[in-house]
Amino acid sequence: MQNFEYCNPTRIVFGKGTITELDRLVPAEARVLLVYGGGSITRNGVYDQVKAALGARTVLEFGGIEPNPAYETCMEAVQLARRENVNFLLAAGGGSVIDGAKFIAAAVPFTEGDPWLFLEKRGEVIPKAAVPLGVVLTLPASGSEMNAIAVISHRGGGEKRAFDAPLLYPRFSILDPEATFSLPLNQVRNGIVDTFVHVVEQYLTYPAEASLQDRQAEAIILTVLDEGPKTLANPTDYAARANIVWCATNAFNRSLSCGVPVDFATHNIGHELTAVYGMAHAESLAVVLASRWRLQKTAKQAKLAQFARRVWGVTEPNPAVAAELAITHTLDFFHRLGMPSRLRDYGISAVEAAEKIAARLAARRAVFGEHADVTPDKVAAILRMAE
Ligand code: NZQ
Ligand code: ZN
Repeated sequence: MQNFEYCNPTRIVFGKGTITELDRLVPAEARVLLVYGGGSITRNGVYDQVKAALGARTVLEFGGIEPNPAYETCMEAVQLARRENVNFLLAAGGGSVIDGAKFIAAAVPFTEGDPWLFLEKRGEVIPKAAVPLGVVLTLPASGSEMNAIAVISHRGGGEKRAFDAPLLYPRFSILDPEATFSLPLNQVRNGIVDTFVHVVEQYLTYPAEASLQDRQAEAIILTVLDEGPKTLANPTDYAARANIVWCATNAFNRSLSCGVPVDFATHNIGHELTAVYGMAHAESLAVVLASRWRLQKTAKQAKLAQFARRVWGVTEPNPAVAAELAITHTLDFFHRLGMPSRLRDYGISAVEAAEKIAARLAARRAVFGEHADVTPDKVAAILRMAE
């Protein structure tokens, strides 16, 4: 096991009726900016619950954070927050709203240039201050409610990039599974796939003698295999949805990353597909994952075979055959959820995508994967395989 340091300061308040806890969690004197998306919270009653719980506090509002949140939109909220001396941000929504709010939180006190530098020069320009942030989650998928990562799209520049900083952990996240009941089924499906891929990006690399982390990853996947189809078949089954919400949070609160190598090539390539073709996040992942694995099946063989045996019940003794079975079982699961797994399913030419995206990545000298060997050429090969 590799050395690691882990501190996750986000308080989780989980369960039915927990939005009322905002009254206890948000400081009484706070000047709150409530950040939300395109209006789902007004239609499903979450907005009314939030406003009631905040009571007499000063609450300003910024709606309109779009899926794959835009830098340009978030900057409008930054101006508002600065003008109004906001000292608490409350994000009510899915990963896009939470990520947008994280960016706003870091951008408000930043005076050393354009806050896009956090993403363009990730690791070099790091937020040193941030407005405190609380979350009311409405979509189980991103894990953003309990991590310090934000993914932002620069519409003008045609980029989608991530950044992270310890200051971006939400102070608290309220996870009321009933707040997710209004989700359309395709968003529930996307959330299940995103959760699955978060787990395997941290698990499916090479053996690192991290037995507990392996078992934790397998436990989340096994739970998702059980509860995912249940929550799709019966969206208001509280137990199934509650389990999916808690899986999504645990899949990406970075506990699975402790002491192990991580991949994230599928996410990095997926972000490019979203930037260039506007694909939804999870749809991009489902298109890339199997080809990413197949390209380096030998390097990943030990973990793929372990995945096949422990999760998919494969008894095949030959590790190479077992590894391929893990991939076909994964694709079968995505297909059973109704998730396409090919670029052609979206009318995208694999040859064109490979060329365009490899050129973009070469221009910024990007390399991905647990061995830092997924070069732009390999990305092109992966995309051609995802035809
Ligand atoms: O905008 P509103 O009106 O709220 O509608 C949203 C949006 O249209 C809707 N929705 C959310 N909750 C709902 C609801 N509709 C009905 N009932 C509800 N309860 O769902 C649509 C999609 O929302 P979005 O927030 O975009 O989805 P998701 O949570 O999947 O987030 C995707 C974003 O998260 C980023 C992705 O790149 C993408 O930008 N990610 C963030 C990560 C992180 N911070 O750690 C990691 C992930 O890998 C991911 O990259
Ligand atoms: Zn993801």
